[in-house]
Amino acid sequence: LENGLARTPPMGWMSWGYYMCGTKCEPGDDKCLDESLIMSVADAFYNEGYQEAGYEYIIIDDCWSEMQRDERGRLVADKKRFPRGMKFLGDYIHSKGLKFGMYTNVAPVTCMQYPGSYSYLKKDADTFAEWGVDYLKVDGCFVSEEILNESYIKLGKHLNNTGRPIVFSCSWPYYIQYIINKSPDYVQVAKYCNLWRNFHDIQTTWPSARGVLQYYESNYQLFSKYHGPGHWNDPDMLIIGTGALTHSQSRIQLAVMAMLSAPLLLSCNMKRITPYEKQLLQNMDLIAIAQDPLGIMAEPYDVIPGISSWMKPHLPRKGDLYPSYSFAFVNLNKNDAHGYIDLKRFSFNATDGYTVLDVFTGQYFLNVTPTDRIEVTVKGEDVTLYSLFPL
Ligand code: GLA
Repeated sequence: LENGLARTPPMGWMSWGYYMCGTKCEPGDDKCLDESLIMSVADAFYNEGYQEAGYEYIIIDDCWSEMQRDERGRLVADKKRFPRGMKFLGDYIHSKGLKFGMYTNVAPVTCMQYPGSYSYLKKDADTFAEWGVDYLKVDGCFVSEEILNESYIKLGKHLNNTGRPIVFSCSWPYYIQYIINKSPDYVQVAKYCNLWRNFHDIQTTWPSARGVLQYYESNYQLFSKYHGPGHWNDPDMLIIGTGALTHSQSRIQLAVMAMLSAPLLLSCNMKRITPYEKQLLQNMDLIAIAQDPLGIMAEPYDVIPGISSWMKPHLPRKGDLYPSYSFAFVNLNKNDAHGYIDLKRFSFNATDGYTVLDVFTGQYFLNVTPTDRIEVTVKGEDVTLYSLFPL
């Protein structure tokens, strides 16, 4: 969607992956979706370096509202969990220089049966804008193909008419593909949405995260060409910090998401992020890969048996004549894998060669010419991530 927004893939935090509906909120309940949670995420972004690293949007997913609209038909925030309302939270988030995201569905109810925007597309767009919403995630549960195809376009127009810049996140192609069982029209989706889900919800388990990565590896041809500034495929949230991943699994999820130029949306208790995870999430060499202005979705190719290898070109850095490149070698097997890449096959043209950065160690450990071969060893269930910068 060419609305000037999401020129690089959005980064931030979204409640669903870890907190899910989060409505119980009994004493001692770690998964309560309420005002203090959202404020604590804003505080963590502001105080702990996440904002400087680029994390910006704080997005409240499903289960935030009362079961009934007010007498004027407007959505109302749950009075117990969000006693000061959504405008207050939006203001709080904005006071930290951060951005505010919310959630709705195009059906009469949301996926969790809260009031949906079906016959209230304009009213809800106006309400979200009044609350200071900067990002709207719009789900597509429970409706027909016709309604999906109509409502996303209509809601997008209403959002645009509010005059407030609002990133528009759609689940449109996901529902067309997996609920209606047809091929999504990605030309339309990219025209009307800033980002969109392609695949099933991620769960907070390694097999789920691995499944998402394998899905993008096997299906990238369906949608990689619609990916770029203003319009992104969305492989769903990161689950780093939830306790579900080992260090090397965390590296794998982050490396592949960065190579895909995917949105980086955390979903975890910010207070439980370990020092190592924080260092990973704030690795600026990795974020530079994820946020590269060209926004190319890396494509997988075969170089080393048993390893999925990905390459993507970057915009030349300031002062560089030639582009930089990143490589990821992902080993999902239990055994170490050894191999090499012949740079010749890529016809890189920096005549003085490249310096190679190991993104996870921070070491520039090698210089190569465009015809060299780089040897790689990837430990079992781990990833090696290199960036090559022209000399
Ligand atoms: C769907 C979406 C999830 C989340 C839930 C909320 O399953 O895909 O990301 O928003 O609905 O109910």
